[in-house]
Amino acid sequence: MIQQAVNLCESGDLKAAFGLTLKILKERTDDVDALILQSIILERKGRFGDAVTQIHGAILCRPKYEDKHNFFGFDYPRMARSLERNLLKQDVAVNHHGLKTDEAVRHAQLLMATALQLQGRDQEALAWYEKCRLGDFTHYLALYYQSLITDDGLIDLEGEILAVDFKDRLDAHEIDSLNEALYAETKGHPTFNREVHREAPYQKWITGDLAESPVKPFKRLHEMIRREVDHLRARLTARTGHPFYGTIPEKYRIHLFGAVLGPGGFHSPHIHSDAWLSGGYYARVPEIGRSDDEEHAGYLEFGRRFLGDPESFRGPKRLIEPEEGLMWMWPSYYIHNTVPCKSERERLTMGFNIIPVS
Ligand SMILES: [Fe+2]
Repeated sequence: MIQQAVNLCESGDLKAAFGLTLKILKERTDDVDALILQSIILERKGRFGDAVTQIHGAILCRPKYEDKHNFFGFDYPRMARSLERNLLKQDVAVNHHGLKTDEAVRHAQLLMATALQLQGRDQEALAWYEKCRLGDFTHYLALYYQSLITDDGLIDLEGEILAVDFKDRLDAHEIDSLNEALYAETKGHPTFNREVHREAPYQKWITGDLAESPVKPFKRLHEMIRREVDHLRARLTARTGHPFYGTIPEKYRIHLFGAVLGPGGFHSPHIHSDAWLSGGYYARVPEIGRSDDEEHAGYLEFGRRFLGDPESFRGPKRLIEPEEGLMWMWPSYYIHNTVPCKSERERLTMGFNIIPVS
């Protein structure tokens, strides 16, 4: 179908071509080829802002790892950069117009800031990031990118990504049986297949919320997480105005989920936008990934940007080797992703979010 859409596009029937891409994306929301073609069509129509959004969608679905593995055979992050420049060349007044309206437009502010940042126009970018500070998903992203320009203590990948070793708290046998039970219960959970993220080639499954589940291993893990989070909250010193230390919640709920990755599976760079603290407990880790030091297959990675070319990233990064029995916690606005797994053995992370409640 993508070939048909490309033919229509080439023959100048942009409307029909776009209609076909919509059809493809209805079937597969993360179809990279359809996203790229949409971006091409939108660019031809002079809708640079929308074209940028679609190409960023393609980057989100396939970050660095598969830059050229698409139907078109080209480097689409490069295309994103060029589109961002075109977006900037458009009359900035167009972007000013309506910036006070809704979230969609707030997203345009963020794009504008990022485009400026990618061109090294940091001071102008900062001014746009300031406009994004409105307390939603955009706010978190703005914070993150802003921190790459100003060393304002918002990101500390060494000090604020914390490990908790459950092997210090439970004996080896208890850990093993907990991990086995978590794996079996996750795979057998009624929500396990509901949120399949298009199996191939992403190999990723995520359950619904398990926090209220009466199933023993989930309950156990829930309690263990709560204990660690409470210890952490008691240790932290509040700092007014800081997105993490300034918002330590008095009360919170835990959102708990199981995330399974198969061979080749990965999580694209993302943040957990409505939480204060996020984390993951490794219940099952592929053997091969652990010994693959060169490519860090299956590692948890912090600091890869996801707007613009992932390769043009400036700023700190941190790679974390997954290990069964270990839990990691970090401020929810830290961008993170998984390096694609290689092993046939599935990888199970029990992810969680600490969500403030009033
Ligand atoms: Fe995550």
